[in-house]
Amino acid sequence: MNPKILVIGASGQIGSELTLALREIHGKNSVLASDIKEGNDELMKSGPFIKIDATHKEEIANCIAFHKVTDVYLMAALLSATAEKHPDLAWSLNMQSLSHILELAREKKIKKIFWPSSIAVFGPTTPKKNTPQRTIMEPNTVYGITKLAGERWCEYFFNKFGVDVRSVRYPGIISYKTPPGGGTTDYAIDIFHKAVKNKPYECFLNDDVMLPMMFMKDAINATIKIMGAKKEDIKIRSSYNLAAISFSPKDIAESIKKSIPEFKIRYKPDFRQEIAESWPNSIDDSEARKDWNWNHQYTLEELTIEMIENLK
Ligand code: SER
Repeated sequence: MNPKILVIGASGQIGSELTLALREIHGKNSVLASDIKEGNDELMKSGPFIKIDATHKEEIANCIAFHKVTDVYLMAALLSATAEKHPDLAWSLNMQSLSHILELAREKKIKKIFWPSSIAVFGPTTPKKNTPQRTIMEPNTVYGITKLAGERWCEYFFNKFGVDVRSVRYPGIISYKTPPGGGTTDYAIDIFHKAVKNKPYECFLNDDVMLPMMFMKDAINATIKIMGAKKEDIKIRSSYNLAAISFSPKDIAESIKKSIPEFKIRYKPDFRQEIAESWPNSIDDSEARKDWNWNHQYTLEELTIEMIENLK
């Protein structure tokens, strides 16, 4: 039977492109987009949309029952920088939404869940280079704490109740269609918006802070791949490490200069520098590559060219 999909947080940076990709695969009427706010034109025109507050269990439950939803992609969350400013809201949105969906799956009202975790589950005491799947995890950001708690919650619901929940720890995601909101890795998108307008960029991180990153197309591909994998191939039910490339602000500025030689960057680190410093430089994602054949495609050079072409 074809899945009937609900994307919660469909107007966000990843949700909007994920919805379009899922509609390509399953047909527009099999994928219901939902968010607390409307999305961009492309999303709104691509198929059905419904307003939902991800923290209201009843609203979600009614929608799932009415539309006979089988699979949920829960993309609603407050990201790292915003979460530091609104810790209570971050905790309630990030945790309640997950808890409602897991509970609905335990009650057999849905079959399969995708829920994203993040490199933010790691903290200052985690080994920074090639960070392993299983290692010290002492996140010191509100966002990282919600994601780590969420991972434990997912594994618990799988072990206790057989809930088929699948997850990856996204690195910073670089995209041109929908702007990101409130992340620490957002600099790597903001920089392109300035560069294509021939404006200098003032970076809120230092030049040398290396972070794991990924082009949106790879992130969507990973999401679709893990959800399409056989149940028995998903061996990790907390969340999989996922990686593509790692670079620093200086590296990406150099890459942009190959296409826009007059591009200028200045560094003025703010509170996000400390968040970035607490995260890994690079990630070992060999388990995802082994268990469900994950492979990334985009290099820094390739994504730079695609970002510049599309933003122009
Ligand atoms: N991109 C996210 C952030 O910066 C990390 O998952 O908050």
